[in-house]
Amino acid sequence: MKPMTGMKALVRVASKAAQQSYSPYSLFPVGAGLMTAGGAIYVGCNVENASFGLTICAERTAVANAVSDGHQKFKALAVVGGMGKAVHPCGACLQVLAEFCEPDFPIILAPLNDLSKMEVTSLGALLPHTFVLKKKA
Ligand code: THU
Repeated sequence: MKPMTGMKALVRVASKAAQQSYSPYSLFPVGAGLMTAGGAIYVGCNVENASFGLTICAERTAVANAVSDGHQKFKALAVVGGMGKAVHPCGACLQVLAEFCEPDFPIILAPLNDLSKMEVTSLGALLPHTFVLKKKA
């Protein structure tokens, strides 16, 4: 996918969000920056729990933050995590993004220790077959 304007800024914001990560069990901080259609940015970090399955990923935290503030249309997501090479969002987070975003939705990835190693991909490339259910309202 081609680079978009504001990509570097979104990656920087995501890397700052990773600094807020609560990840004492994995020691694997992840940060996300989600840009709304209007250009506002909402952040998220992973929030772990002693009951491991209750852990929330950075991407879903960012979506919940934005939706809670009244936003449901998004332009791009940056995810920063891992060392040396970028991490890809997990399947659960991709499915949550697919609730609000089209397949061409840009996802920008970068490792924590070198933000210049940015990769741009899309929701459709990472999750080609979304689970879809007809909405009742
Ligand atoms: N994690 C994320 O925040 N996003 C993902 O897409 C995958 C994994 C977090 C969850 C957990 O706190 C840590 O990374 C290790 O799995």
